[in-house]
Amino acid sequence: MNYPNVFLHGGDYNPDQWLDYPEVLLEDIRLMKLAGINAVSLGIFAWARLEPEEGRYDFEWMDEIVERLTENGIGIVLATPSAARPAWLAQRYPEVLRCNDRFERMHYGERHNHCLTSPVYREKVRQIDTALARRYAGHKDILMWHIGNEFGGDCRCPLCAQAFREWLIDKYGTLEELNRRWWTGFWSQRYTDWSQIEPPSPMGEVSNPSMWLDWRRFETCQCASFVRMEREAVQAVNGDIPVTINLMERFRDYDYFTLAKEIDVVSWDSYPTWGSGDDMALAANVAMQHDLMRSFKRKPFLLMESTPSLVNWKPHNKLKRPGMHLLSSLQAVAHGSQSVMMFQWRKGRGGSEAFHGAVVSHDGRSDTRVFRDVAEVGQVLAGLKPVLDARNQAGVCILFDYENLWALERVQAAQLGNMRYIDTVLLFYRSLWEQGIAVDFADMSEETSLEGYKVVIAPMLFMFRGGIEEKMRRFTEKGGVLVTTFFSGIVDADHLTYLGDAPHGLTDVLGLRAEEIDALYPEEFNTLVFKDDRDLPLEELCELPRDVTAEVMGVYGSDFYAGMPALTRNRFGRGTAWYLAGKPDPYGMKIVMDMILAEVKLPKADAEIDHPAGVVVTDRGGYRFVQNYSGEPQRVRLLCPMRDQISHNQIEGEWTMPVNGILILKKYTEKEEQED
Ligand code: GAL
Ligand code: ZN
Repeated sequence: MNYPNVFLHGGDYNPDQWLDYPEVLLEDIRLMKLAGINAVSLGIFAWARLEPEEGRYDFEWMDEIVERLTENGIGIVLATPSAARPAWLAQRYPEVLRCNDRFERMHYGERHNHCLTSPVYREKVRQIDTALARRYAGHKDILMWHIGNEFGGDCRCPLCAQAFREWLIDKYGTLEELNRRWWTGFWSQRYTDWSQIEPPSPMGEVSNPSMWLDWRRFETCQCASFVRMEREAVQAVNGDIPVTINLMERFRDYDYFTLAKEIDVVSWDSYPTWGSGDDMALAANVAMQHDLMRSFKRKPFLLMESTPSLVNWKPHNKLKRPGMHLLSSLQAVAHGSQSVMMFQWRKGRGGSEAFHGAVVSHDGRSDTRVFRDVAEVGQVLAGLKPVLDARNQAGVCILFDYENLWALERVQAAQLGNMRYIDTVLLFYRSLWEQGIAVDFADMSEETSLEGYKVVIAPMLFMFRGGIEEKMRRFTEKGGVLVTTFFSGIVDADHLTYLGDAPHGLTDVLGLRAEEIDALYPEEFNTLVFKDDRDLPLEELCELPRDVTAEVMGVYGSDFYAGMPALTRNRFGRGTAWYLAGKPDPYGMKIVMDMILAEVKLPKADAEIDHPAGVVVTDRGGYRFVQNYSGEPQRVRLLCPMRDQISHNQIEGEWTMPVNGILILKKYTEKEEQED
């Protein structure tokens, strides 16, 4: 087994940019050891060096690097170079270049912009992957394959258009069926020949939401089959080496739950703008992304990229403040990461990323602030061995679904083009995260099971698919707590509205039907008024429920729907189904969730730790990661003695955390207590 049972610490290593500097390459190894690096991702953009001309491979330089790394105990996440093609390839085979959404063929340049359909591109990638595998797959220090890089984007070339049509023929069988499910009676859109269908484009048809959904599914499918092709190529020699692709946050192009099936380990690249004002809000978003990544395969993931200091592609590239590198790295570990990897090891001298943060800067020094920060993370990770086997356990499942995301991004309704689905999911997530309540995510695919969870939250599930309404019904019936919101159960998987009352199939479970939805202007708000007259603001969307037999927990405070239910609770079977009609802000959401969770016993990571707002506790299998994102020193109070896995101090009672401080606390076992 090549995949090691340690935390990986390292990052993108691009020696192919430094072949004229042998002394730098030697120095790299010395510095890596100093920084506690035990793994690098190698050769992500090295195609032009590996295959300088068509069919002529040059592996000698890489042999040397691989030897040197392995002699020094540094494992290798070996990349396939498919994310950026050599100039000769594009010149000789223009079909490998993407066509943009105006159907224009792009020119050679940049990266991540090849056609995933092109048979030539697939073949060339397969050949270089095969050659790489033959050369290196026998090596015990190849920890895993890193396929391509950050797959994303669309191509609308003639090959893709044809493949899209074939995909549609396969899906619908007849044009009659497609016309029916795409509702092409609208605007005379009826297709009478498959060849009339083109990829969605502002040059042609762009607003048919059913078509848009199929396009996104098709693009997911193209990417999945491309990844599968690469996987088969690299694993042909040694199937034991696992495969990963590096994913991105708030990504919308492909369905990651589907892509994750093609790989062994999920990894992702995280670049939050720490220090830009509200680190709490940022940390909540990052935490959610980590949990989502863990949920794709329900197992530990890798943090593949992060910056040790700053990025260089935001308008304002702030340095990570002291302590933040350790804190943000361990946040990933808290949520189930088995690595802290960075982009990149050493800053290049040229190219657009010469000023992106790296472990080693242009001065080549190891006595810099950043280098020390990185070395500290290396040291801490090396001491966290026991945490490796600890698993995140969640009693709450939030439904998050890419098809619903696409459906909402194209629906012309309510808050046009700005339905803020991910932000709505985050609102719920944050209210739980702040209280140390662990969360898993699941999508609406057939295989999703809600079994074993105490609470299921379905924010803004505009589309129902995969029988999700049945699953939610059964979940509630059997004693679960279901939370639904405005704009739910309105369209099916074809983006056709259900005929009948909304939310489809759940009106009896919720004890109401949703009749209309009101979109508020940005400066407007309504209120949610509780029975005891407390109230909280509602913004953006307010849905109007009718025929409410559920218990009314809160009503609207103003407008023509003042007094109408805005939060309800319905006993159904042995469980409870909640419905939230309007959208609170993060503060209000916390109050709503407190009310909902009052009846459920859920383990909280902060049960034995009193802490102020701005400090968050996350549990990974009994290890409590206490994280201070408040930007101020904070006092926490431990209700029982615990040991900090970073400092190894025993901590009791009050403890002051510095700005960006982190503790990893573990309760004493009985044995330890006796020894003390
Ligand atoms: C990532 C990418 C890396 C590097 C990095 C810079 O998205 O995978 O290659 O460009 O951004 O932040
Ligand atoms: Zn194409």
